[in-house]
Amino acid sequence: HSAAGKPGSPIVFAHRGASGTRPENTMAAFRRAIELGATGIETDVQLSADGEPVLIHDETLSRTAAAPGCVVEKTYAELRSLDAGSWYHPEFMGEQIPHLDELLKLAKNTGIVVNIELKNTVCAYPGLEEKVIAAVRAHGVEEQTIVSSFNHYSLALCKKLAPEIRTGVLYMEGLYRPWDYAKTLGADALHAYDPAVTADWVREALEAGVDYHPFTVNDEARLDALIEMGAAGIITDHPDRVVRLLVQRRVDSEL
Ligand code: G3P
Ligand code: MG
Repeated sequence: HSAAGKPGSPIVFAHRGASGTRPENTMAAFRRAIELGATGIETDVQLSADGEPVLIHDETLSRTAAAPGCVVEKTYAELRSLDAGSWYHPEFMGEQIPHLDELLKLAKNTGIVVNIELKNTVCAYPGLEEKVIAAVRAHGVEEQTIVSSFNHYSLALCKKLAPEIRTGVLYMEGLYRPWDYAKTLGADALHAYDPAVTADWVREALEAGVDYHPFTVNDEARLDALIEMGAAGIITDHPDRVVRLLVQRRVDSEL
C-alpha cells in the first residue's frame, strides 16, 4: 500500500496513458506517462472476437481506430491492422491497439503500478476476469496491479480468484459510505468520480482500510486539494501536472 493519508504521496495514475498529449491507450501514451513521472497507468481492457485482451476504451472502433464495428466483432489480427494513432495526430500514425501483455511487460520493467479497468458493462466478455488474472500472474506483477470495473460482480469474482491482486470499485454516483460497500466486495480502493470527494470521506475510508483513487482530475487547484486530502492515488490525463505539484510541495516544505 501507498503512504495513504499523508498529504503529498498519491500514486499518479496516467489515465489511458498520458492521454492529454498522446493518443489514449497506445504504447506511445504509456511510455510518455513514464517519461512525465507518472507512477501508475490506467487502461481499459476488452476482448477481441478470438479472446485476446486488448487495450481500448470504446466498445466501438470509430473514434480511436477509424473503423466501423465493435471490438468484440474483430479478431486480434484485424484489430492489430488498425491505426490507433492517426485520429489524434498524423505524427502517431502506425500506433496499434496494444495487447495487455505489452503494458504488463512495461510495468514489470519499470515498476509502475498498473490499473486495469475491465470494460465489461456494455459487452459481457465471459472469461475476461480469468484472462486478466492469468496475464498479471504470468508477468509477475500482482503486487503492482489494481483491477477496477464499473461491473462490481467482476470485482467480487476477481477477489475470489486472485485475493493477492488489489481491486478498485468504479462508480459515478454519490454512494453513501462507499468504503462500507467496498468491503462487501473485498475491494481495496474507491475509484470515485471526482467532483464529490471530500476530505472527511478520504479520512473515513482510510480508517476502514480503503484507499481513494478519484478520476479523472486535470484541474491544478483540484489536484492540489486532493493531494492535501491525502488521496492515495489520482487518475489524470496530465500526470506531469501532479508531479509538478508534488515537487513544489517538497521544495516548500524544505524552505
Ligand atoms: O478508471 C477511471 C476512468 O477511466 C473510468 O472511466 O470511461 O474513462 O474508462 P472511463
Ligand atoms: Mg478507464
